[in-house]
Amino acid sequence: MSLNTTEINRLMNRFDSHASVWLFGYGSLIFKADFPFLERRPASITGWSRRFYQGSHDHRGTQEAPGRVVTLVPEDDAVCHGMAYLVTPEEFAHLDHREKNGYLRLAIEMTFGDGGTAEGIVYIATHENAAWLGPASERDIARQIAGARGPSGPNSKYLLELARALRALGKHDAHVQGIEAHLQEFLQSEKG
Ligand code: SIN
Repeated sequence: MSLNTTEINRLMNRFDSHASVWLFGYGSLIFKADFPFLERRPASITGWSRRFYQGSHDHRGTQEAPGRVVTLVPEDDAVCHGMAYLVTPEEFAHLDHREKNGYLRLAIEMTFGDGGTAEGIVYIATHENAAWLGPASERDIARQIAGARGPSGPNSKYLLELARALRALGKHDAHVQGIEAHLQEFLQSEKG
């Protein structure tokens, strides 16, 4: 199932009059910046955990065999590390299209590596969206990822690139690394 959130996101005009806006990325936005940006800095947000709970029917899977991609779920005191990009408000037309399968723009405070903070935007897919898949064991999530592919490529590539990007940032994410370990096992056994 899918729900196009582009129209809803267009109504989020809070930053439209700003010369530039910070965007916080925690999934593919960390490793695939297919938009121009003025500046990029490692950053984190508090009170949210990264989870492979969102279905991908348009990028990393199909309607018949959806993949799994990350979204954020609220969790007291949790810290989610990612990458912040300073962009002009015009970039959100492209970003809304890219994140259209259930993600909504939310205003959020982010903290940079040097302790400075800024308010900006993050894309979150909540449990209320049509493409939400929700919790499953890390092994089942890895199995689903191993078997899914869509127009943007294999779902496994999304997970492996995210895990690599987090390692490059020097950040540990137990959920991502746990699923990665199971996925490696499935990929090895596929090779025979
Ligand atoms: C993000 O990366 O911030 C949103 C989720 C995704 O596109 O993978």
